[in-house]
Formats: sequence, structure tokens, C-alpha cells
Amino acid sequence: MANIIGISGSLRTRSLNAALLRAAAGLAPAGTTIAIESIRGIPLYDGDVEASTGIPAVVASLKDRIGAIDGLLLVTPEYNNSIPGVFKNAIDWMSRPADDIPRVFGGLPVGIIGASPGRFGTLLSQTAWLPVLRALGAQPWFGQSYYLGGAHRLFDASGALTDEDSRKRLQGHLAGFAEYVEAGKRRR
Ligand code: FNR
Repeated sequence: MANIIGISGSLRTRSLNAALLRAAAGLAPAGTTIAIESIRGIPLYDGDVEASTGIPAVVASLKDRIGAIDGLLLVTPEYNNSIPGVFKNAIDWMSRPADDIPRVFGGLPVGIIGASPGRFGTLLSQTAWLPVLRALGAQPWFGQSYYLGGAHRLFDASGALTDEDSRKRLQGHLAGFAEYVEAGKRRR
């Protein structure tokens, strides 16, 4: 039984990436759960706030939940060919204090997927996550890639992923990631 947390890096109600994460939660293989967590409410990182009042409660509780799971699925938008600031900011807060990084992220299997209306489907932002994950000592999965380009055409009005090929590819991707997460439980 693998327990995965999935986080979308967009705050938009009609976010393609939040919709992709919901689709992923529904297509997880048997024996794997993908619990949807949110970065909403995480303030901008401010070292003065950290020094005076410590880690905000919303960050501390998300850190604790990530520290207790088997795998993390980042569902990332792409802004200006890179990681959206709100998403990076959330991870930056969760990397504080630095001596807590191994408890939260050390050896953690991490999958990255993403959706954009553009042709390359978040290729560059997914790549931009890699040095961040290396800094955190996490274990990104390189077994397959999932770039959902032209994504505005692949969901219905309710936000359901209706394109059959995209659903099948996502299902296969998640099956591979779940196997990696299971194997990672022995490493962690
Ligand atoms: C974008 N978008 C975008 N798309 C892309 O494929 N490559 C890019 O470099 C950018 N750059 C970019 C910058 C900024 C500031 C915004 C607001 C948007 C478009 C982006 O992929 C699109 O808005 C997605 O729908 C955002 O993800 P959510 O909110 O739908 O999950």
C-alpha cells in the first residue's frame, strides 16, 4: 500500500494542473492512494518572520504530512519557462529549518507531471524542478515523462480529463511511479 501526496502548483479554481491532479487521484493503481494537498494559505517566505515566529502552522503541518508519506507527486504549471513562484515558495518554506530537510524530503520518491495549453506541456518547468529536488535530497522518478500539452482542450467544463489517450498515458505513468514509490519504501 503506497501513500502518495499530490500537490498542484496553481491556486486557480479552474486550474488545469489541479484538474490533472484530480484525474491522477482517480487513476491511481489499486493499492495506491493519492491524497490531494494544497499550497493555499502559505505566505511568502520571509526570513524575519521565520526568525521571530518560526515556521507558519500551515507549513509545519504540510511538512509533517509529507514526512509521513511514501511518495510526493508535484503537478506543476509552467510560468516563463520555469517553476511558478507560488509553488517554489511553498517548497522553500518547507525546506526550513534546513536541518529538518532529511525528515521531510530525504530519499522521498517524487514524481513530476504538469499541464499547459502550450505545445510542450510544462517540459521546462518539470526540468527546472530537478536541481531543487537534488538540493532537498529527494529521489525524482525518471522512468517516464508526462507532459500534457494543449491541455485546455483535454478537460470538460467540469474539469474532468476526458481525452482517452491522455487518461491512458496518465494511468500508465502512475502505475510506474507507484512501483517506484513501493521500491523507495525500502530505501527510506
Ligand atoms: C504562463 N503560461 C505558460 N505556459 C507555458 O507552457 N510556458 C510558459 O512559459 C508559460 N508562461 C506563463 C507565465 C505566466 C505568468 C502565466 C500566468 C502563464 C500559461 C500557463 O501554462 C497557463 O496559464 C496554465 O493554464 C497555468 O496553469 P493552471 O493555472 O491552469 O494550472
